[in-house]
Amino acid sequence: MSSPESLMQVARTVATEAASLIIDGRARAEVAATKSSPIDIVTQMDLAAERLLRDRLAELRPDDAILGEEGDDSPGTSGITWVLDPIDGTVNYLYGLPHFAVSVAAVAGEPTPQTWTALAGAVHDGSGVLWSASRDGGAWRNGEPLVRTDAPGLDGTLLATGFQYVAQRRVRQGEIVTSMLGRVRDIRRLGAAAVDLCLVAAGHLDAYYEHGLHPWDFAAAALIAEEAGVRVAGIDGGAPDERLTIAAMPDVWEQLRDALLEAGAARSWDASEA
Ligand code: IPD
Repeated sequence: MSSPESLMQVARTVATEAASLIIDGRARAEVAATKSSPIDIVTQMDLAAERLLRDRLAELRPDDAILGEEGDDSPGTSGITWVLDPIDGTVNYLYGLPHFAVSVAAVAGEPTPQTWTALAGAVHDGSGVLWSASRDGGAWRNGEPLVRTDAPGLDGTLLATGFQYVAQRRVRQGEIVTSMLGRVRDIRRLGAAAVDLCLVAAGHLDAYYEHGLHPWDFAAAALIAEEAGVRVAGIDGGAPDERLTIAAMPDVWEQLRDALLEAGAARSWDASEA
């Protein structure tokens, strides 16, 4: 059975199991490798959690494909792909800060954000909250439905963002944030994209944007935010992608996007600056 509801149950189950593994193993966490730069780290717990997620999905959903942050893509035959981030916010995890999460999404279609339809997702964060959603079935924080109805205008917005691990790109991102600081209530940089998006879904943040996210950073949490009533889209209003992800309530989304463009957001993803 592949209803969004049944996929959400699977996502909740495996995300909870992986979260318990990483929370229990946190004191022993150490850097196992680096990726895009020396500060872009993978711990041995990222690898162990992704192994657990892959093994459990192979048992529960043997015909599905898998796209994970820390491993090779596994093909499937069902048309469904699981998009996995075993630890989003790895730096926070290593430093003992609370904003990190396991993120698990089930998507249909070609597994890129431009072509997929997200069907279900679960984000289990480091403080023990299980966020989840199924397409057209709503979003949930533990057992409580998430519905966002209101948002302040741009000048009252508590806006979160994040930075990439490549220094040159960060400098550009810093220039954009500097400009946005004068346009909004305040800025937060919490360190885990999936958690940021869930906090927007719950109204603890008004809005969020970030350049350079990978599909596994937002696959589950973007659906959770959308099902709660938030608009999550890319710079052109289509699917969010690696250039820019913007999450805000529908009536302020365009104002935020335009402010980001005025701040130079369109320039910062030039390949020459990566
Ligand atoms: C990172 C976090 C961070 C965001 C980075 C992501 P990772 O994920 O979500 O908040 O700013 O862009 O790469 O590397 O910890 O899985």
